[in-house]
Amino acid sequence: MKGIILAGGLGTRLYPATLGVSKQLMPIYDKPMIYYPLSVLMLAEIKDILIIHSPHDHYSFRRILGDGSQLGITISYACQSEPRGIADAFNVAESFIDNDPVTLILGDNIFYGAGFKGLLNSTLQSNHGCTVFGYNVAEPERYGVASFDRNGCIERIVEKPKVAPSNIAITGLYIYDFSVSQRAKDLRFSKRGELEITDLNNSYLKDGKLKLAELPRGFAWLDTGTHESLMEASQFVRAVEKSQSLKIGCIEEVAFRNSWIDQKHLEALAKPLLKTQYGTYLQNLYSHDR
Ligand code: TTP
Repeated sequence: MKGIILAGGLGTRLYPATLGVSKQLMPIYDKPMIYYPLSVLMLAEIKDILIIHSPHDHYSFRRILGDGSQLGITISYACQSEPRGIADAFNVAESFIDNDPVTLILGDNIFYGAGFKGLLNSTLQSNHGCTVFGYNVAEPERYGVASFDRNGCIERIVEKPKVAPSNIAITGLYIYDFSVSQRAKDLRFSKRGELEITDLNNSYLKDGKLKLAELPRGFAWLDTGTHESLMEASQFVRAVEKSQSLKIGCIEEVAFRNSWIDQKHLEALAKPLLKTQYGTYLQNLYSHDR
């Protein structure tokens, strides 16, 4: 299984903050936004990861994450020359995917909740076709929304409906089989000029190959596309990290707990960060090794 983080886009809803920097490099409390989706792929035990970025951002992402070897993973990079839509990720990444199954996560999505690692691993293993994750939201009109038949089975996904058929939004985490690149090639641009992820997902649904996994009550899914949601996400992460003394989206911790790096590597990663609480957190991981 390969992994893709889609971290391009223009971030126009965050202007002027994102005029000079990628949205996915903005901080969510104590770490860059991209740490959160990267930690999700790592929790899913995916080690071969492609980051798709906008033309000007390659160097910045590389400076932070390098080739991934410091985390025991492989990170490569590809440029999306303009934001042609989320499903365009599979055109940009075609040679990286190379007909393997792939998990895509949006660079501005944060997932957090008990049992997530187990859920990810079992979902990955049982995927036949495509698996999407549904989340109960207050304003479904902003998202792709699941529509259900009388028996409660998903019958289609509707992108940003005027009147939502349910409150179950499709989140920015998608698992696909080997056929995804071919299906992406068959997509046509929508009225808003994008290759829509909803059209791709509906192509699996039409073939009876889409599974909807609902994220349970108490689980947190945050997207961070506006100034308000960015601030709320930072406050959420701060509150959880403070009360539990556990970090969300700490990529070094996931690598260590997955046994992809040893204590010596973790120590080396913590060293330049020791002026911060993030660094002392890493230090505590190897001194207590809980
Ligand atoms: P959006 O939030 O839909 O788009 P955006 O990030 O460009 O922001 P705005 O609407 O404010 O202009 O994108 C969701 C995620 O997908 C985000 O992490 C950026 C990424 N993305 C791409 O990398 N390429 C694309 O073509 C699109 C549409 C999104």
